Amino acid sequence: MSIVQWSDDFKTGVCGVDCQHKALIRMLNGLYSIAEKSRDREVVSEAASLLADFVVEHFQCEEKTMRDVSYPAYESHKQQHDEFAGRVAEIVKRFDETGDNGSLTTSVQNYMVPWLTEHFTKTDKEMAGFIAGGPSDKAA
Ligand SMILES: [Fe+2]
Ligand SMILES: [Fe+2]
Repeated sequence: MSIVQWSDDFKTGVCGVDCQHKALIRMLNGLYSIAEKSRDREVVSEAASLLADFVVEHFQCEEKTMRDVSYPAYESHKQQHDEFAGRVAEIVKRFDETGDNGSLTTSVQNYMVPWLTEHFTKTDKEMAGFIAGGPSDKAA
């Protein structure tokens, strides 16, 4: 079962960013369905860790892009990333300690999916708008 599907509303128009967002959506669905079906704690833990690692990788990628174009809202965007990555790391740690699949699926559905899709449509789109316009000193 898919709990979230790619929507054109998420589209930022920045190719590398959209590809990674699509991968995040696939991983959220994958983790949810693994945590729903599998009682193998290691398998679930690995899927959760893969998602957490990819979240960090994706954020680092966006942050580098923002620094490259001297994005003015860099700090507040990075702060959002840090908060989410920190919460996701806590969720994974809690699963590793408790093996509670139900609490993990709830976190994916009620926290990770809404947070990420809102971030795609607002914060990442704002960043993409700036990238499309280019740094102000290069503007015609
Ligand atoms: Fe993003
Ligand atoms: Fe972002």
